[in-house]
Amino acid sequence: MKTKYDVLIIGAGLAGLYAAMNLPKEKKVLVVCKDIPWECNTFYAQGGMVTALNEADIPIHVQDTMSAGAYHNNQEAVEILSRTSIETTADIIAAGMVFDSNEAGELLYTKEAAHSVERIIHAGGDATGRYMHYFLMVQNQHQLQKNTLVYDLLIENGRCYGVKASVNYEPTTIYADHVIIASGGVGSLYAFNTNSRTVSADIHGICVEKGIELADMEFMQFHPTVFVDTPYARKLLLTEALRGEGAFVVDDEGRRFLFDYDPRGELASRDIVSRGIFDYHRKTGKQAYLDFSMFEEEWFAQRFPNITRTFAAIGYHFPQDKAPISPAFHYANGGIKCDTNGCISGMEGLYVIGEASHTGVHGANRLASNSLLEGMVFSKRVVDYILAQGKVEGKTPTFEKDYANILHKKDDKIYKQKLRQVMWEDIGIIRTTKGLHEAKNLIYDMKNKEIGRLLELRLNTASAIVDAALARKESLGSHYMESI
Ligand code: SIN
Repeated sequence: MKTKYDVLIIGAGLAGLYAAMNLPKEKKVLVVCKDIPWECNTFYAQGGMVTALNEADIPIHVQDTMSAGAYHNNQEAVEILSRTSIETTADIIAAGMVFDSNEAGELLYTKEAAHSVERIIHAGGDATGRYMHYFLMVQNQHQLQKNTLVYDLLIENGRCYGVKASVNYEPTTIYADHVIIASGGVGSLYAFNTNSRTVSADIHGICVEKGIELADMEFMQFHPTVFVDTPYARKLLLTEALRGEGAFVVDDEGRRFLFDYDPRGELASRDIVSRGIFDYHRKTGKQAYLDFSMFEEEWFAQRFPNITRTFAAIGYHFPQDKAPISPAFHYANGGIKCDTNGCISGMEGLYVIGEASHTGVHGANRLASNSLLEGMVFSKRVVDYILAQGKVEGKTPTFEKDYANILHKKDDKIYKQKLRQVMWEDIGIIRTTKGLHEAKNLIYDMKNKEIGRLLELRLNTASAIVDAALARKESLGSHYMESI
């Protein structure tokens, strides 16, 4: 007899864990993650979570989100996000999550780029994701299984029945009535990125293979202020909140050159600031830095304890030292297409939430700190949708095909590095038609080599990104085409 779960959640970041938190204990729920649970993007989120301040702030938050997203957003999704933010924040606080507050117990709000007002709440100073993740892990009442790498979705006649996965290196079939994808974005495809190493677009790649639509994949977001001089693929983020609190971006001579690009300078939207830093370096050869010298030392260490500690360990003493910065890949605005309940068109029993999803809420460029909020708002909606469904009837088919013995092939590592470089150079911050065509050919060539299943899935996603970028001839938001 096959074991079958009511709900299987792929991913133990904020979206997956908040979905689990909202599923009653009586349900048979399994949350799986590829590695250890804190190897997820939530864990590395620093700045905070947006919440509309009150009813009057909702239209302003909607407007900020749409404006950052170059009005390419799905307005209905943006309105849901903003409207629901107040109750979502109240819910998690009522459940015991502690955000930073002043001595009177009032929440402290910060600002990040392209926000009209201070409306971002934070925890542990600059460790919001880590604190929220820990809180959700403690809340979790369901089975959580680590070392579970999903390499196939079991789909027949428009219904998903579960997944095939490598569980502690053993090929395993997991059946479920409802499968929620909460596996994050595509960060590991890029040479320079701020993401957890587990975020490597496998499930997106499976969706491409099964004909499930990915949308807006040309809109890859680059974070402007990242310390990239480390040997690891994941680079060190320097949160937007630093600029929100008043840090400057300067060149070697201390000039705030971002005003050459936008009158808002450091507080222009993320796509504009990233391009400004990239372009200035390209034109002048000058290095960009984050300058914190305006901050008082004690205040800085208290407000940004995580950054202070991490950088002290590699020889930087903030706020006295300036940090050399570069943009790096940060977030996929596009993803697996779904409606505002996380449902995937033409597919029963399969849902998607969080960064993996595309409701259209972010448009062509995500507004800073909207992602933790999105992860919560839309995962609660998926759970409400699932709980409103009747019992799933019908026989579960048997799925013979298995890729377990070909997950990796000998030369995968070499191709993976090559892919990362190509993604960074040709499908990065500034794109050209020529570069995109070259990248497309290279990806195609690699697909025809002797490669393992996991690399094939990465390449499927990379193809979707390059095809979407080629299809959009004009620049928009984070998709920037240079006319060559
Ligand atoms: C940051 O702290 O700068 C990242 C926040 C975000 O990605 O929205």
